[in-house]
Amino acid sequence: MTIDFEALRRRFPVLRRKTYLNSGSYCALADTVREAFDAYMDDRLAVGANWDVWVMKNEAVRAAMAQVLRVTPDEIAVTASASAGINALASALDFNGPRDKVVISDFEFPTNAQIWHAQERRGARVVHVPAGADGYIPLENFARLIDERTRLVAVTQVCFRNGARLDIAAIARLARERGALMMVDCYQAIGAMTVDARALGVDFAVGGMLKYLLGTAGIGFLYVRSGLIPELVPSNSGWFAQQDITAMDITANRPSQSARRFEAGTPPVVNCYAAEAGLKIILETGTDAIEARVRALTRHCLEGLGAIGWPAVTPPEDARRGPMVAVPARDAAGLFARLLQEDIVTSFRDNNIRATIHFYNSTADIDRFIAAMGAHRGQFGPRT
Ligand SMILES: Cc1ncc(COP(=O)(O)O)c(C=O)c1O
Repeated sequence: MTIDFEALRRRFPVLRRKTYLNSGSYCALADTVREAFDAYMDDRLAVGANWDVWVMKNEAVRAAMAQVLRVTPDEIAVTASASAGINALASALDFNGPRDKVVISDFEFPTNAQIWHAQERRGARVVHVPAGADGYIPLENFARLIDERTRLVAVTQVCFRNGARLDIAAIARLARERGALMMVDCYQAIGAMTVDARALGVDFAVGGMLKYLLGTAGIGFLYVRSGLIPELVPSNSGWFAQQDITAMDITANRPSQSARRFEAGTPPVVNCYAAEAGLKIILETGTDAIEARVRALTRHCLEGLGAIGWPAVTPPEDARRGPMVAVPARDAAGLFARLLQEDIVTSFRDNNIRATIHFYNSTADIDRFIAAMGAHRGQFGPRT
């Protein structure tokens, strides 16, 4: 089946006005996602509190998220953020036994480092797997630190600073061989790439819906492999995490048998409307097709930057790269602002300008970005 990406592109009105290369921060808004927000408002005006529909929306998000990750709905908790999912998971782990170590990497988004460091009060020892001289983290560096003391390996799939993609399947294999659990933070990948939780062999996956999943802020997910759910009882809890939400029992904590036990309070209702609509576009388009297009666009971007003599810090190999091309600049904040004035929306982290690319981008978008970068050639900065 060939996908009409030009037709899909027309469903994102901001693309008519802007060269939008910022999906790694916040996606472009689709027509049907806007309609979903309107539908929530219509419900509020017409019905007031439409709880039955709201519960269905929450379940629809759970089911769609399960489809995207290629797992079952019972393995998905719908959370308010990636942080909420990581916190719930952390609260279910014990660090007082012989396995007290949490292995993270130098590529982590802050929240996935800070939450694990917060567990130091509970006995956890957190170690960071360092990057090599080329800025990438080779598997050997993980092999050196994952051992018989390791409780959990919790690493990002794609680095939010430079777009490098780690070999999650290989890291998960190492973790399994050494008796450790494995969590992937796939926020910078999911929606732009196929993230098949079973094929990757991970025990947990976290992320959220505001980036490549085309939804909104204020909603996320935690995948928990079904076999692990009975033995993990989060102390971060709430009434929506209970086996019977309607029981209103204040005498005990009776967690759900499913991954819903990692949820907490009232679901993010309005965000469920938007997330459902965004996930629908991803599922209808297909993550394999999206990944192929994003791969071609990021490659085109890397080649274009190479041609103007401004090499990216993102690894050139397809398998080592996510949906991002990061370029070093002398004054990244200043260059970001200049590009914005030219209607080119990027983002910056450290000294890098980030072009984060989704299926709704076109070759013309990339060419416009390269031409603008060529005009700002004096901003070329050192690799950091
Ligand atoms: C890799 C990664 N993890 C986590 C987060 C933050 O997640 P949340 O704000 O939902 O906790 C981000 C946000 O940019 C991210 O890029």
